[in-house]
Amino acid sequence: AKPSKSFAERFPALVTGFFFFMWYFLNVIFNILNKKVYNYFPYPYFVSVIHLVVGVAYCLVSWSVGLPKRAPIDKELLILLTPVAFCHALGHVTSNVSFAAVAVSFTHTIKALEPFFNAAASQFVLGHQIPLSLWLSLAPVVIGVSMASLTELSFNWTGFISAMISNVAFTYRSIYSKKAMTGMDSTNVYAYISIIALFFCLPPAIFIEGPQLMQYGFRDAIAKVGLIKFLSDLFWIGMFYHLYNQLATNTLERVAPLTHAVGNVLKRVFVIGFSIVVFGNKISTQTGIGTAIAIAGVAIYSLIKANMEEQKRKAALSAAS
Ligand code: 3PG
Repeated sequence: AKPSKSFAERFPALVTGFFFFMWYFLNVIFNILNKKVYNYFPYPYFVSVIHLVVGVAYCLVSWSVGLPKRAPIDKELLILLTPVAFCHALGHVTSNVSFAAVAVSFTHTIKALEPFFNAAASQFVLGHQIPLSLWLSLAPVVIGVSMASLTELSFNWTGFISAMISNVAFTYRSIYSKKAMTGMDSTNVYAYISIIALFFCLPPAIFIEGPQLMQYGFRDAIAKVGLIKFLSDLFWIGMFYHLYNQLATNTLERVAPLTHAVGNVLKRVFVIGFSIVVFGNKISTQTGIGTAIAIAGVAIYSLIKANMEEQKRKAALSAAS
């Protein structure tokens, strides 16, 4: 008799939909809790380390009970994953420096430029020819983000520049990830990346924030919210951070990179919306319109790109037949 199919095999679209939902859900909660912590404990380098410490602890516990079974790692794999982890660490820390410095909605508006950075890297780093129409379709994204930035009430250069650096870092992360196709499952890959990234995040946290933390950072946070709430907040932002990223990686395993990139922009729409409501942030009309133009621009860009890829695929198929 034929072995009966699993639920995931019978309803793949439903399962993929569930992955997207969980990814967004965990990300919205992460962003809100994370910003609440920055409002009483403004130490993004240290908090970035905590995100990874909790994530790594979670991975070690999961491995110890065999869920999932730990995939073996050797020197060669380590060398492949290290640049991915470095970019992951850099993008993570700079995103958090931005979250701490400006409104969450503003950081995510700038991060909506990520596809633009990806296109630039494809052309100027990887030497792929990007057609003019695709470049032109990115114009509204750049105009929208510029409009939004000019009148953003929480604007400061630290928040703006660090979110821009995170765009560069995450673009390189995806370039190196492609080179590091290891055949290992995504949960194991993300666990190893978290461990290596933790080593990169520790030194800046110690050198940049260590002295202030020791003198008054911890003391002030505990005085404001109490030790138990402080520790539980740190624990939960770490858990949500790890789980949303793991879900994002698992989703990438199930869909094409372009679908994933579009999904990531849609995720920012939810985060921007929820964070404005939860924090009651005032946004100027121009910032609202600029953000909407930028997001619509990303959608148009993605449609054009998907179309081009479809045509390329068809051309390759007919050439082969
Ligand atoms: C992080 O903490 O690394 C940021 O939340 C990254 O943001 P993104 O996953 O939405 O790009």
